[in-house]
Amino acid sequence: MIAFNTEGIRSKRFESANLISTNRKVVRTVKDLEPVLYDASSCKGLDSELPVYTIHRDLYSDNDQRSTLLDNGLRYDVTEMFPLMLGEEYAKTFGHDHLSWQGAWSHPEIFEIIQGEARFLIQTYRGEDVVSVSFVVAREGDVVLIPPSCGHSMINVSSDRLIVGNLISQDCVQTYRRFTERKGGAYFLVRGEKLVENRNYRSLPEARIVGAESPEFIEKKSGLLASFRRRPELFKFLNDQNGLLEAHALE
Ligand SMILES: [Fe+2]
Repeated sequence: MIAFNTEGIRSKRFESANLISTNRKVVRTVKDLEPVLYDASSCKGLDSELPVYTIHRDLYSDNDQRSTLLDNGLRYDVTEMFPLMLGEEYAKTFGHDHLSWQGAWSHPEIFEIIQGEARFLIQTYRGEDVVSVSFVVAREGDVVLIPPSCGHSMINVSSDRLIVGNLISQDCVQTYRRFTERKGGAYFLVRGEKLVENRNYRSLPEARIVGAESPEFIEKKSGLLASFRRRPELFKFLNDQNGLLEAHALE
C-alpha cells in the first residue's frame, strides 16, 4: 500500500490528504489515444509516450471506509488529466461503454470534479445507433451521473490539471469496442469548444450542452466519499438495476 500523491490538489472537498492507494495505476499516453483522436497527424510534434491521464484505482481514506466500499461492491478511483492540446483537440479519456451485466443493464457511474473543469460526453444508443449526445459542463464540486448503458468520455477544457473522482461497481467491466471501431465518440471537442461531428457514426442527433445536475443526496461541499461514508445505502443504485429510480425518488 502506498499513500496517493495528492500534491497540488487544493480542494478541501477531497478526503485525499490521506487517501490510500492499492497502487493500481493506469497511465494513458498520446500513443494510446491515437485511435480515437480527431486528427492524430496533428500530434506529430508531441512525444507519443507523453502521459495524457493517469487513473488511480481503488482508493480509500481508511480501513473502515475500505470495508464499507467492499461490502457495498463499490470502488473509488481518481483520474488526473493534464492540460494538453492533442492537435486541435482537448485532452480527453479514450471513451468507453460498460459491458451489460446479467442481461440488458449496464452499470451507472458517478463522478465528482475535485479540481479543474471538465466536459463529459455522454451518448445513448438504440442498437448500434447513437440516439442522443450530451456534453455536460462540470466545474469544481459538481457531480455527474452517467446513467446505465451510455458511452462516455471526459475532456479537460481548462489550462489547469483536471482531477476527478468516481464511484463505480466492482463488477463493472469497461468495453472500448464502439469507441475504437468508430475512432472516438460521436463528436470531437476542439479548440474554442467547437463540436465536430465524427463521420464514422451513421446518423447523428444534434449534441446538447447541459449543466451538471448533482443528485441532492450528494454533499457537494464534502464530496462523494464523505457522502458515501454518511449514507452508503444511497449508493446501492450503482449495483442495482432498479435502484436508480429509487435513488432519484429520494431527491
Ligand atoms: Fe465508465
